[in-house]
Amino acid sequence: MQTVNAREENSAVAWPSLCPALREYDEDSDDSLSFFRDGVASHSVIFMARKRRILQIPGSHQAIQITDDNSRTLIDPVSGVAFHSASGALAETQHVYLRNSGVKDRLSNGESSAVLEVGLGTGLGMLLTVDEAIGGDAKLNYHALESDLLPVSVLRALELDSGMRSVAIHQSYLNWYENVLCEASPGSYCWEYAEHVTVTIHHCDARDFQFSKTGFFDAIYFDPFAPSVNQDLWTVEFLGKMRTLLRSGGKLVTYCVNRHVKDTLTATGFEISCVSGPLGGKREVMRATRID
Ligand SMILES: C[S@@+](CC[C@H](N)C(=O)[O-])C[C@H]1O[C@@H](n2cnc3c(N)ncnc32)[C@H](O)[C@@H]1O
Repeated sequence: MQTVNAREENSAVAWPSLCPALREYDEDSDDSLSFFRDGVASHSVIFMARKRRILQIPGSHQAIQITDDNSRTLIDPVSGVAFHSASGALAETQHVYLRNSGVKDRLSNGESSAVLEVGLGTGLGMLLTVDEAIGGDAKLNYHALESDLLPVSVLRALELDSGMRSVAIHQSYLNWYENVLCEASPGSYCWEYAEHVTVTIHHCDARDFQFSKTGFFDAIYFDPFAPSVNQDLWTVEFLGKMRTLLRSGGKLVTYCVNRHVKDTLTATGFEISCVSGPLGGKREVMRATRID
């Protein structure tokens, strides 16, 4: 089987949408993409190289990658660690987190929702969720954990508002971030965008966080880096803690569906299902439900 190393993909990568027969790929290993023809691993795949644009951010060791849906993500060019899928940061976030968790439907129906995100990163998942809550006039209580807050210059360069309905939300967040969060010491900080929409960012290491403070959640967006580089958050102990934070029927969603993650989630008592991934992206993504 031919494979493309994800770490090399800023130079050239096969891109399924350019060739209709190549619609799916599998990222079961964390580091490599294996390409399939009509769902079957093929040796006769013709790769069509696609160069993805990389933009340097002045004063930052990180760089911006223009992903295939034209939204932007952040990568560390040395380690190759990216914050989102190169096949579409916006599409991935909407699909894997907002839709797969049911949060998008809940909010657009005006249903109040509590969400925990492990790995705030750029804030894209959070901003899209706030955007949805405002659009649906729904109550949202959002908590996010992040150990390494990004400089506001990086957030600005990411132009995250390009995927949002309300540019005002993005602007309000950046103002608050710059004034309150940017240089903040570890602790919890609240951004209240509207009376019914609050976001609490816990600047901390998730491994040490006292979860008793947060209450229960309808959904957990589980988005730390992959198990291969961040194994402490993918253990039975940590994922078991996540399960106890969910209401019955609540969902933990993540992009990772490798065997280890499936087994670990199952061992913690989740009911797991691997659902179709975003168009042009991963073949499957994870939805783990607390049933009791
Ligand atoms: C893949 S990025 C998250 C992307 C994010 N969901 C977004 O929409 O941009 C992973 C994030 O998890 C954070 N992270 C990794 N390990 C962590 C830990 N132990 N505690 C808190 N945050 C952590 C990283 O700093 C990084 O910002």
